[in-house]
Amino acid sequence: MKAAVFHKIGDISVDNVPDPIIEQPRDTIIRVTSTAICGSDLHIYDGFFPQLRDQVMGHEFMGIIEEVGSGVNNLKKGDRVVVPFPIACGNCYFCSHGLQPHCENSNPDHYGPEGDMLSGRGAALFGYTDLYGGYAGGQAEYVRVPFSDYSLRKVPDHLTDEQVLFLTDIFPTGWSAIDWGNVKGGETVAIFGSGPVGLMAQKAAWIRGAARVIAIDPVNYRLDRARRVNKVETLNPHEVDVIEAIYEMTGGRGADVCVDAVGVEAERTVLDKVKAVVNLEKGSIKALEMCFQAVRRGGTVSVVGVYGSPYDNFPIHRLVDKGIAIRFGQAPVQNYIDELIGLIQDGKVVLDDIISHTLPLAEASRGYEMFKKKEDDCVKVVLKP
Ligand SMILES: NC(=O)c1ccc[n+]([C@@H]2O[C@H](COP(=O)([O-])OP(=O)(O)OC[C@H]3O[C@@H](n4cnc5c(N)ncnc54)[C@H](O)[C@@H]3O)[C@@H](O)[C@H]2O)c1
Ligand SMILES: [Zn+2]
Ligand SMILES: [Zn+2]
Repeated sequence: MKAAVFHKIGDISVDNVPDPIIEQPRDTIIRVTSTAICGSDLHIYDGFFPQLRDQVMGHEFMGIIEEVGSGVNNLKKGDRVVVPFPIACGNCYFCSHGLQPHCENSNPDHYGPEGDMLSGRGAALFGYTDLYGGYAGGQAEYVRVPFSDYSLRKVPDHLTDEQVLFLTDIFPTGWSAIDWGNVKGGETVAIFGSGPVGLMAQKAAWIRGAARVIAIDPVNYRLDRARRVNKVETLNPHEVDVIEAIYEMTGGRGADVCVDAVGVEAERTVLDKVKAVVNLEKGSIKALEMCFQAVRRGGTVSVVGVYGSPYDNFPIHRLVDKGIAIRFGQAPVQNYIDELIGLIQDGKVVLDDIISHTLPLAEASRGYEMFKKKEDDCVKVVLKP
């Protein structure tokens, strides 16, 4: 079959690889009909998450069941399904506490409690390096889904792939950010990053009753899209002092909830880059620092942006002085997905308005390049195998 294969930093190509087969009774093989490129894929592409051997990319995908293992009783060949990106067994301590990205059974070789850079990582994720389980991802014609009886969700025929594809990751991720921020109604929510994840967090903030949603991004076309599809207020750090602007908009207090939907690959100045070299730091925590500044005293910072390595000069003093609550993590997609399918079916949210490009899988490497370099006003790339 054809698949988008990571070879080395900056090198992803569509190659012929062996078809997946059923390996465990709870496995299912899916024929992928739609898959997307994520900001998290860029962290592998750009070398922030190390991967030494070839690996089929992709953790946002859906399709039609081709074959089911002998242990799967709730699914059958021909079912149309979406696939949550964390691989989770459904039975262990963490799965039964709604913490599927920490499943004890999907990443046996590299799992552990300490969460270090090269050992003791969390649950497996599709197509997300050997440290996260080494499973082939879904930017491919076919994919093997472990523990499929627990994770897969059937989707109604009348909804298009594009309407439901983002249930696999970015909508539940944006939802997690807002849920972790305890948004209950009336809050001012400032969302740093207006890429696909930021756009989904904006949608979630409105649904959960935020009074004001402010999107921050240095790239104007992404802010244009945010205003157009989500009717949010926007701030560009190249044009205004974002922190001052947020204080001004909130009576000098700051936002009730700040979301980091940027992660380690935040835009940096030359000075930031020099500082990172001096401190032996990879990437940047710029967006996180801005969240700590922009949030009000006693507020919450919700971090769905991904960070892969330690960082010195962490502004711990500000957390103490302002009494900030923080939440970090990968989204527990399986917890939220049923409620979120309901929102789509009831017409309470539209997700496909963030798609800027649809390409054949064969053009995956162009898709990666365009998404990374923000060419042609690229926001979200959907690939069709
Ligand atoms: N926690 C999870 O479960 C989960 C799931 C999916 C993605 N993610 C992570 O979310 C992050 C965003 O993903 P995405 O797909 O939207 O990627 P993306 O790279 O398209 O979006 C990041 C956006 O942040 C903007 N940005 C850069 N520096 C900024 C700054 N200082 N302030 C404000 N905005 C800034 C960029 O211009 C870009 O629009 C990534 O780190 C990704 O790994 C996490
Ligand atoms: Zn993703
Ligand atoms: Zn589990």
